[in-house]
Amino acid sequence: MESQNIYDNEAFFREYSNLRARDDNHNVLIEQPAMAKLLPSLDGKKVLDLGCGMGENCMDFARRGAERVLGIDISKRMLAVARERTADPRVEYRCMSMEDLAEIDESFDLIYSSLAFHYIEDLDSLLGEIRRHLRPGGMLLFSQEHPLNTAQGHFERDEQGNCTAYTVYDYNRASKIVTTWFVDGVEKYHRPMGQILTSLAHTGFIMEDVIEPVAEDWALVKRPALIKEQIKPCFLIVRAKI
Ligand SMILES: C[S@@+](CC[C@H](N)C(=O)[O-])C[C@H]1O[C@@H](n2cnc3c(N)ncnc32)[C@H](O)[C@@H]1O
Repeated sequence: MESQNIYDNEAFFREYSNLRARDDNHNVLIEQPAMAKLLPSLDGKKVLDLGCGMGENCMDFARRGAERVLGIDISKRMLAVARERTADPRVEYRCMSMEDLAEIDESFDLIYSSLAFHYIEDLDSLLGEIRRHLRPGGMLLFSQEHPLNTAQGHFERDEQGNCTAYTVYDYNRASKIVTTWFVDGVEKYHRPMGQILTSLAHTGFIMEDVIEPVAEDWALVKRPALIKEQIKPCFLIVRAKI
């Protein structure tokens, strides 16, 4: 079954666009800097971005010297913004689900995905296709919501409202989560950390980095509340090779 296309929901898209336009969101302050540190040299390389959204990373890959960048996304609204913002002929966008990756008849040096894998039900199949689409020596670099984030849970707070701990429920049971984020009915998939890493290993990936990034000092100056990432990280980042 194809995954939900919530980014084409009008209300969701409006709220998400507003969030991404801010310069103090989690992507800008935590996820993107941590991902950028793990990027290989892209000079003359072919890159595939799964769930490329508004194309920011695709444009960045071209600026870093990539010879060709293919960004795919299930959302027409996200891709419309990406196409409007991108003038570089080395960057191409295609509207399709990453679950249909088998339809792409090309191989890549880097397959990248930022914050989209938690929308995919069958991670094993996706990883298998990713492996088939990597050139020898190719790399997979992805981020997703941290398993502690996709699991149900809540922060404990002291009397001043400071986060002191995080209570998590049902962590070890992989499940489809239907949640509210801007709108009701947003579907995503919770998988415990062990399952994600085992899927990668069984697909034949060699893990180079498994990162649970926290806010660095400069980010904490912009948004002190991000100190709570020390208690419960929002993101999981994996860099793996074949
Ligand atoms: C949180 S956004 C991240 C966008 C972009 N990667 C970035 O970092 O700015 C998640 C993106 O994944 C896309 N997405 C979700 N499920 C998908 C699927 N099955 N195939 C392709 N894209 C998908 C959404 O449409 C959305 O653009």
